[in-house]
Amino acid sequence: MRVRTAVIPCAGQGTRFRPITRTVPKELLPIIATPALQLVLDECVGAGIDHVVLVSSHDKPAIERFGKDAEQEMAGLKISIAYQDEPRGLGHAVGCAREAVGDEPFAVLLPDELMSGSQLLAQMIDVCERTGGSVVGLKRVPMHEVGAYGVIAPAGDLDANGVVPIATMVEKPPVEDAPSDLIIIGRYVLTNDVFDLIERLPPGAKGEIQLTDALRQQAEAGPFHGVLSRIGRHDTGNPLGWLTAVVDLAIDDPTVGPEFTAWLRGRLG
Ligand code: UTP
Repeated sequence: MRVRTAVIPCAGQGTRFRPITRTVPKELLPIIATPALQLVLDECVGAGIDHVVLVSSHDKPAIERFGKDAEQEMAGLKISIAYQDEPRGLGHAVGCAREAVGDEPFAVLLPDELMSGSQLLAQMIDVCERTGGSVVGLKRVPMHEVGAYGVIAPAGDLDANGVVPIATMVEKPPVEDAPSDLIIIGRYVLTNDVFDLIERLPPGAKGEIQLTDALRQQAEAGPFHGVLSRIGRHDTGNPLGWLTAVVDLAIDDPTVGPEFTAWLRGRLG
């Protein structure tokens, strides 16, 4: 079945970005002059997505306003809003999009991770359509860093395209128990049965409904793959990561890049 819909969870509280997130949602923080969420919509469209579901909260009306404007400006892209009024975790946020998604497989993109293009998502969609199973985006990290992430246990070797079958996954393992150095990044393409699994999940860590708990069940039951990302990525979920992304993209920006780079060189001596 073709993957045409993407869910973008935007209902979190953005506590790491206080005080700005008391007035501006984290997902709309500017990357130079473009809201981060716009870059994620562009990634979706580049991978063939034609329906995006923004999961928002009534406390963040700017997300819905942004969605309405973007729908008008982006010909051929339908944007729906689903609500999650309490931030009960990523799994719960995805579950809130069930009605808007319908019966098809769908992508999930975390808007506080920015990719340099649509290639990874497009490849993940292709793997999902070919295998009939869910797919997660992967990144290799130094072994001593794995404890901060969801880590996969491969069920075989990475192929020449960076695709690997996954047996199971563990959340934030101690280094000595980590089954690999491949962490799950904020890009997923999921088969529709994940909604039933999410509904049956008991609250996990911090009382939240964790998406990883549903994905582990999928991985242990049937075909489930990871795709190693070979494109640039910025984690903009914390102030340092956001700042790094803005500087990195500003250096390459055709409008401000040359002047900004000259200033930066001077500033750094
Ligand atoms: P994060 O955990 O990075 O976002 O979730 P957060 O909770 O807003 O940030 P902090 O930890 O308080 O600083 C990744 C994405 O998932 C969404 C967030 O809005 C963010 O875009 N999310 C998270 C939800 O939509 N609902 C949730 O319950 C949790």
